[in-house]
Amino acid sequence: MLEKLVSAILYILPAYVANGSPVVVVRLIGKATPMDLGAKAWDGRRILGDGKTFEGFFSGIALGSIVGLILIALGNPASYRSILEPLILSLGAMLGDILGSFIKRRLGLKRGQPAPGMDQLGFVVCALIISFAIYGLPDWFDSLTVIILLLVTAYLHLGTNYLAYLLGLKSEPY
Ligand code: CTP
Ligand code: MG
Repeated sequence: MLEKLVSAILYILPAYVANGSPVVVVRLIGKATPMDLGAKAWDGRRILGDGKTFEGFFSGIALGSIVGLILIALGNPASYRSILEPLILSLGAMLGDILGSFIKRRLGLKRGQPAPGMDQLGFVVCALIISFAIYGLPDWFDSLTVIILLLVTAYLHLGTNYLAYLLGLKSEPY
């Protein structure tokens, strides 16, 4: 049981890194370009908002992929089936994050306003769906492990975001 959970967390690690890096990278480079280029949707609100930038998107995918490649080089304890699997997980995480912002804007939530559940889990759910669709179910997969993985992710996300807030990287603690 614990072994499966450890495998699951190692497996999803590129998605965590992809999701967490943009806030740091964008802070380091200072200025970043919103992916919607400031454009508004049919409802008059921003398509995605200023929180989704090209720099964040690509740095997230790059850093997530690198962490996955390091895992593979260390003996592949995450049991990736392809050298591209970490890239797919990172891409899935960033797309899930974008989809979340798109939904938040349509609901009238401003950039940075919380959407409990979606903010913490949307990126992981999206990463898993896309990687499972391409590579099939991994060895560690069973419903209980997935549920515990989602719970661990939600708490980790809340914890790391609070830390980013304490470090002055984010203006909201969630
Ligand atoms: N970020 C980015 N590009 C991305 C994703 C994130 O630049 N594709 C950066 C932004 O600086 C963003 C921060 O990481 O503010 C935190 O990400 P997130 O919490 O997803 O964005 P929010 O600002 O909360 O915006 P939203 O309400 O759209 O989720
Ligand atoms: Mg947020």
